[in-house]
Amino acid sequence: MDVDLSVELGVGTPRPLLLRNPVLSAAGTFGYGVEYARLLPLDRIGAVVTKSTTLRPRAGAPMPRWVETPSGMLNAIGINNPGIDRVRRTYAPKWKGLGAPVILSVAGETVEEYIEVALRVEEAENVSALELNISCPNVHEGGMWFGTDPHQAAGVTSAVRAVTSLPLIVKLTPNVADISGVARAVEDAGADAVSLVNTLTGMVIDTASRRPVLGNRTGGLSGPAIRPVAVRMVWEVAQSVDVPVIGLGGITRADDALQFIMAGASAVQVGSSGFGRPSTIVEVADGLGAWCAEKGVSSLADVRGCVLPSGSRCS
Ligand SMILES: Cc1cc2nc3c(=O)[nH]c(=O)nc-3n(C[C@H](O)[C@H](O)[C@H](O)COP(=O)(O)O)c2cc1C
Repeated sequence: MDVDLSVELGVGTPRPLLLRNPVLSAAGTFGYGVEYARLLPLDRIGAVVTKSTTLRPRAGAPMPRWVETPSGMLNAIGINNPGIDRVRRTYAPKWKGLGAPVILSVAGETVEEYIEVALRVEEAENVSALELNISCPNVHEGGMWFGTDPHQAAGVTSAVRAVTSLPLIVKLTPNVADISGVARAVEDAGADAVSLVNTLTGMVIDTASRRPVLGNRTGGLSGPAIRPVAVRMVWEVAQSVDVPVIGLGGITRADDALQFIMAGASAVQVGSSGFGRPSTIVEVADGLGAWCAEKGVSSLADVRGCVLPSGSRCS
């Protein structure tokens, strides 16, 4: 049977983005996509989300930057990246032949920095959408994360919305009591979609040295350990917003992705599972198609949000 896995983001915006399927890479776990072009058939995934990119190059956090945990990893990379100008020069020309559209993840320490990166992307070639990583400190406000406060999250979203014609995804942090409140705030501020979750803050201590293992002391937990938390948050957010929800956190196979879709997600992202097995993202995409064909489901829309309470905004 014919299965339609396509997803549209930014419907009604000047540059809507049609994805062939709903499986994207997660920011920071897939480089700038070009590193994987010879390794994987990228024309079988929905899109590449890049490493978060800032205005100026960033060296990142002190070593060590990651440690294994049961069913996951804890990392504090510190958004090391070459800066937007170098990304435009080095990677953007190569994105044309990549096989998948590129969504640039944007990070910054101030609203002005987000605006400046978005403006430079507006003139760049081969970028199909922006994803705002708002789990970055707002130094003007004393080091708090933009994403933990609905007001701050809305502020950075509306500022970027004002300067970009690209579909705008805002990536939410799970390190909050009420993620739906932040999701509603960024939707009202002009986000075309929300993605969740970023990593959960954690710490691992080396008892021999009596010190935290990571150079940054704390880090972000990812992998299968966080999947139930992420699925629950997607389920909550899908009941609270009308824009598409992109779910991620611990996806290792198509069945994991289906959990997010049944919780209300329109698309998913595959992150740290790709470190051990780079082909995971392609297998998840292929697996969703195979599942639909086997179950006689012609579109994932038929099962999207099937566990949401009836009458939910997304159901
Ligand atoms: C090594 C590493 C680097 C990451 N870098 C970024 C980043 O630059 N920007 C971002 O928004 N998220 C970043 N993340 C978070 C992932 O995109 C994702 O939200 C998180 O890992 C949960 O998904 P997963 O369990 O599938 O890995 C990073 C995660 C890891 C493990």
